[in-house]
Amino acid sequence: MVYLQCGECDLTDQIVDIVKRIKERGNIPAHIGIIMDGNGRWAKKRGLPRTEGHKAGIESVRAVVEAAGEVGVKALTLYTFSKENWNRPQAEVSALMALLLQTIRNEIDELDAKNVRLMSIGDVDALPYAPRIGIKKTIKRLSKNTGLVLNLALSYGSRQEIINAIKKIGTDIQKGRLDPADIDEQRFATYLQTYTIGDPDLLIRTSGEQRISNFLLWQIAYAELYITPTLWPDFGKTEFFRAIENFQTRERRFGKVSEQLQA
Ligand code: IPE
Ligand code: IPE
Ligand code: MG
Repeated sequence: MVYLQCGECDLTDQIVDIVKRIKERGNIPAHIGIIMDGNGRWAKKRGLPRTEGHKAGIESVRAVVEAAGEVGVKALTLYTFSKENWNRPQAEVSALMALLLQTIRNEIDELDAKNVRLMSIGDVDALPYAPRIGIKKTIKRLSKNTGLVLNLALSYGSRQEIINAIKKIGTDIQKGRLDPADIDEQRFATYLQTYTIGDPDLLIRTSGEQRISNFLLWQIAYAELYITPTLWPDFGKTEFFRAIENFQTRERRFGKVSEQLQA
């Protein structure tokens, strides 16, 4: 499947067909998480600085946000900057922060027009002033929207998220608001930042790395995995739809046997 570019008509007949097929088949993943990896290698292959890879990756973000909206995905969680990414060279961290700010400024009207609601998980307060304020303002501005929830994981680490949840649980027990006997999986999940959007049904990782890198550890307990060698800047609508179509062919057994699911 090739996503043809034809200037005036950017939605080709092929894409229209794929969208139709996906919708007819049903069983569309409600929440998709993406570990957007491979920007650096994309740039290196072209003899460009790593930052150019990050810039090119923004096109892929635009494409998947649009594609998710087209097929009715409810939530899209994008691993945008990890807790561990603070350990990169200072110049790269600064460039990423500047790019984040620039992108939300450039995209806010388009996101609004597409009825996208923005949220974030992670330690957003750890971001430098300008992107921190930019994110908060954008979340507020788009808060009334009712379409796709675009969730940016920023300064995010899943272990830290779990530890924060445990701390809040400890406080609630101390204050008599929570009985330890009442803690079960559902109750625990209410202490996580993803509480309103639930667990991803599908987790995509680009660039071929077969690891989770501290992303949504609790939430992906039963996610279907789609790992592709495609580098993030080369990941477009077509491959996003391919991942969804692949998901639609899978049988999620949740520990049961196939016959039980058909009954
Ligand atoms: C993903 O691409 C973007 C971020 C982690 C911010 P990378 O920058 O990790 O690209 P590679 O893995 O070095 O190719
Ligand atoms: C994961 O990518 C983080 C993001 C995509 C934001 P990394 O490139 O940082 O992951 P590792 O460190 O190689 O596992
Ligand atoms: Mg990487």
